[in-house]
Amino acid sequence: MGQKVKTAVFPVAGRGTRFLPATKASPKEMLPVVDKPLIQYAVEEAIAAGATKLVFVTGASKRAIEDHFDTDPELEDALTQAGKDELLSSIQGIVPKGVSCIYIRQGKPLGLGHAVLCARPAVGHEPFFVHLADDLIAGEPGCLAQMADEHAAHGGSVVAVETVPRENTSSYGIVSVDADDRNRLTGIVEKPAPEDAPSNSAVVGRYLLTPEIFDKLENIGQGAGGEIQLTDGIADLLNEAAVYAYSFSGVRYDCGSKVGYLQATVAYGLSHEDTGDAFLEFLREVIRD
Ligand code: G1P
Repeated sequence: MGQKVKTAVFPVAGRGTRFLPATKASPKEMLPVVDKPLIQYAVEEAIAAGATKLVFVTGASKRAIEDHFDTDPELEDALTQAGKDELLSSIQGIVPKGVSCIYIRQGKPLGLGHAVLCARPAVGHEPFFVHLADDLIAGEPGCLAQMADEHAAHGGSVVAVETVPRENTSSYGIVSVDADDRNRLTGIVEKPAPEDAPSNSAVVGRYLLTPEIFDKLENIGQGAGGEIQLTDGIADLLNEAAVYAYSFSGVRYDCGSKVGYLQATVAYGLSHEDTGDAFLEFLREVIRD
C-alpha cells in the first residue's frame, strides 16, 4: 500500500549544548559509542531500511560530519600500505555504493520543523524518514525498517513512540491515539507539562512522513519555545491524512543526555565483539568495589 522510502533526513544543525565542552568545536552527532559516531549508527539504520539518499541538514561547526562520510584517499593509502585490511574496509564501507549524501545548511536555528522543511528540495514529493541521531535505538530489524514495513502495509505517516514516566512528558512530543484504528493519531502536542499531557506516549526520534507535511510546515509559524516545531506540522497533517503511532521493538538510549549516553556506551560496549568480555570483567570489578 505505502511506497518504498528511499530518502532519509538527518537534522544535525543543533549545537548540543548539553554536552559542552565536548561539543564546542565538534558536532554532538560525532560523539562515539564504542567505535562509531552516533551519526554513523543513524545512517546504517536508514540504509538498512532501504534509504539510498541521505540528506543532512547541517549548521555551524558541523564540517566533521561531511568529512566522516567523504572518502579519505590518504588514510586509505596508509591503511593499505600497513596491511590493515579490516580497518580499511571499516572506513570504505561507511557509505555503500549506490548511496548518496546531500548536505543542506539550516541558516538559522529555527527549530526541528524548520530543519525538516530545509530538506524539501532534496526530498521531493515522496515519503521520507526523519532520524534524530540523539536517540540511539538498538533493535533488529532497526526501528526505521520496522516503520517502513508498517508504512508498506498500511500507508500513511508513522511516528515511533515509547511510554515514558508521566513526569517526563515535558521533554517530548506526546500523542493521543485511537486504539481501535491501528493507533491512528488523534492529537499530538509538543512538550506538555505532565498535568496537560494527553497521555504518556512519547514520540522518539524516528518519523516516516508523507510529503504533505511540507505544506503544513510552511504555514505553522512559531510554536513551543519560539521554534517551528515538527510536532505542530504533524498536528496539522493528522487532520487530513493518517498518521500512526508505532511502538517499535528495541531499546532506546537518549544520547542527548549524559546518563543515556553512558548507558548506550555500556550496552554497546558489552555487546561489541572486540570489547565485550574485557569490559564485562572491568564492570564486575568496579561494581564489586
Ligand atoms: C524533539 C521533538 C520532540 C520529540 C523528541 C524525540 O525534541 O521536538 O517532539 O519527542 O525530539 O527525541 P528535542 O529532543 O529535539 O528537544
